[in-house]
Amino acid sequence: MAEKKSKVLVVGSTGKLGRELVMASCAASHPTLALVRDLSILCSPSPSNSDKSLLLRSFLSHGVQLLQGSFDDYVSLIQAVKQVDVVICAVPSKNALEQMPLIRAIKEAGCIKRFIPSEFGADPTKVQILGMDYDFYEKKAVIRQFIESEGIPHTYISCNFLMRYLLPSLVQPGLDSPPRDEVKIFGNGNTPAIFVKDCDVAKFTICAIDDLRTLNKTLYLRPPGNICSMNELVDMWENKIGQKLKKICISEEQLLKNINAYEKIEKMVQESERYEAEVEELNKKGEAKNVLENYVYNMRNTIKDDKTSSKIADADKKKVEYVIDQAMISNQLA
Ligand SMILES: NC(=O)c1ccc[n+]([C@@H]2O[C@H](COP(=O)([O-])OP(=O)(O)OC[C@H]3O[C@@H](n4cnc5c(N)ncnc54)[C@H](OP(=O)(O)O)[C@@H]3O)[C@@H](O)[C@H]2O)c1
Repeated sequence: MAEKKSKVLVVGSTGKLGRELVMASCAASHPTLALVRDLSILCSPSPSNSDKSLLLRSFLSHGVQLLQGSFDDYVSLIQAVKQVDVVICAVPSKNALEQMPLIRAIKEAGCIKRFIPSEFGADPTKVQILGMDYDFYEKKAVIRQFIESEGIPHTYISCNFLMRYLLPSLVQPGLDSPPRDEVKIFGNGNTPAIFVKDCDVAKFTICAIDDLRTLNKTLYLRPPGNICSMNELVDMWENKIGQKLKKICISEEQLLKNINAYEKIEKMVQESERYEAEVEELNKKGEAKNVLENYVYNMRNTIKDDKTSSKIADADKKKVEYVIDQAMISNQLA
């Protein structure tokens, strides 16, 4: 008898990696469910989300079951998780900590054979990144601790660099395409890095979900043909365009100095953004105070007006006057 295929739920299914996971799961004949934050885009696609609408339609045409749900709606998480055996999450790194309610739902549902949290990068317990990663790795490490403390069967996927990240610019910060004149080489340029395509990461992930060898382990994706140093990358590019590039070597020491300078600028930008937000908040409070002030003065005039005043009982009048006095004192309107 054919082995029953695990039912797979993909959270973050409309994302770049998420959609590959959905397709890889379907391709491997797993009954596949996709959690989507806003299913209404299927019926009324606006120009801004027409791509997502098309994507959801393509999911449907592949037999994917769409479920509406999000991290802020615990009931939706529980309902989704209870329908499957495997949960794979592919939300962005900055939202890593938001996986907590999903993990609670998995614990409560008690039916999940394997959870793959949103990692898909370097191993967060091994990486040292000088505070340059906006705490992405720290958040992912916290999620690991929570999964393990809750005793949830899991596999962590460590795929190093996704090809769409850094590679299109030949690892040149700030560029969208490889340079044609000069190229920065960091360190001696011989350190190997691993680059894997999203669709391959997705296929390996789907292969891992029912493989007992990967249960409660980290799966490191290191295809030998995808390991390449910066010097090798530049060589390949030069051969492709038939042209030599000017090499600017940035020593490790210089790179660290640049990173520190960058961090200082980032801090200044963050502080000025925070200051701007505080000023905006104060302005808003000022506007609200004006509205309240007008309201209180109107109320006071109304209560003093003979025509209105004669229609209000003395006890009620006293109550209103008391409220006006309190509002004036607490908001310093007097
Ligand atoms: N190793 C690398 O080089 C590398 C590079 C990039 C990413 N990654 C990793 O790959 C994983 C996925 O990243 P990605 O770039 O594919 O992400 P992405 O394209 O930004 O996709 C994000 C997905 O998560 C959903 N989402 C966003 N915020 C959410 C929230 N608060 N609650 C629920 N769902 C939310 C989005 O839903 P909506 O459609 O509703 O917005 C979308 O489906 C992450 O773990 C990231 O660290 C690794």
